[in-house]
Amino acid sequence: MILVTGGAGYIGSHTCIELHNAGHDFVVFDNFSNSSSESLNRVAKIIGKEIKLVEGDIRDSAALQQVFDNYDIESVIHFAGLKAVGESVEMPLEYYDNNIVGTLHLCEVMKKNNCKKIVFSSSATVYGDPHTTPIKEDFPLSATNPYGKSKLFIEEILRDLYISDNEWKIVLLRYFNPVGAHKSGLIGEDPNGIPNNLMPFIAQTAVGKREHLSVFGNDYDTHDGTGVRDYIHVIDLSMGHVKAIEKINSVEKVLTVNLGTGKGYSVLDMVQAFEKASGKEIPYKITPRRSGDIAKCFADPSYAKAVLNWEATRDVNEMCEDSWRWQVNNPNGYKND
Ligand code: NAD
Ligand code: UFG
Repeated sequence: MILVTGGAGYIGSHTCIELHNAGHDFVVFDNFSNSSSESLNRVAKIIGKEIKLVEGDIRDSAALQQVFDNYDIESVIHFAGLKAVGESVEMPLEYYDNNIVGTLHLCEVMKKNNCKKIVFSSSATVYGDPHTTPIKEDFPLSATNPYGKSKLFIEEILRDLYISDNEWKIVLLRYFNPVGAHKSGLIGEDPNGIPNNLMPFIAQTAVGKREHLSVFGNDYDTHDGTGVRDYIHVIDLSMGHVKAIEKINSVEKVLTVNLGTGKGYSVLDMVQAFEKASGKEIPYKITPRRSGDIAKCFADPSYAKAVLNWEATRDVNEMCEDSWRWQVNNPNGYKND
């Protein structure tokens, strides 16, 4: 049985489906601080099976222990964490507590129960402002905000854990920019309030919830001056987790893998692709750069192919079509249910 922390969230809910499709049994542990149980109801509908769920906080060791008492947990996919960069600058203590202290508790409970296999959600943010692209796993690491630092610290903690006990099997997955949604249109990204990320903002603009998109800067050193990112379909990303968990027994040392497509698209490329997918115009205005943003970020995905036999197959058109289907069917996310 696989324990999926944060399994009710955006990436976790999609991963639950792919785990099921690949024949794996799982239990979700989530405190719903940034999600709702409705996402799991929808997952249950999609897979035609009830979801095993324990509601709790990863900082609560007793609640985590309950999961280990009630289920035979062999490995953990650890998504649970807070993820908003701007909010992390405002609330560093909450971010360090939730993400780092939470992970410490999780690892302690795992160790106590002799469960030593973990796949961790890291992020391309740990590369800071890369000196060149595409980004390889051995590039220098840095972070400028508490969210990014929490990912860096957790990576370090997990590396130290391995050094202390080589029985640990650890996979660090560094995601690039997850977008898109499940084909059913039943689950997708449901940000609280005004979205910080590009894709949900574009989707909400297309559906008429936002007047226009602000394009943060058009004077970057990129093909059209706007920021370039490696957008990856959440289903491809989820399948990367399935590959990682299936590979984990043969992992030696700590396996660190980029999950991206290797292709970079600008903000205006994404606007165009979304207009095509939705048939809606996306009004936009060029505004000053957002502080902390970098010009270009995209992965070298060749190591993922070599070690996990995984590669992304879904293109930007499919990402936009699937995001649009989710958005148009659920203009208020999960909130109307
Ligand atoms: P999300 O917020 O949708 O999902 C995270 C889930 O964890 C939520 O369901 C939330 O309720 C739960 N959670 C948070 N703190 C918890 C706690 N203390 N105890 C129990 N549950 C808790 O985010 P997501 O986009 O699905 O991201 C999943 C993971 O991937 C996060 O760790 C995030 O930092 C990482 N990541 C996300 C992105 C991205 O752009 N979405 C990029 C790189 C890395
Ligand atoms: N952008 C806009 N307008 C918006 C929102 C974004 O122009 O309203 C631009 C940004 O300037 C950037 C691009 O769109 O050029 C993508 O921005 P996002 O906020 O969607 O994503 P980021 O690359 O800034 O960051 C995301 C996650 C981080 C994660 C990082 C790498 O938010 O948590 O990807 O995985 F660390």
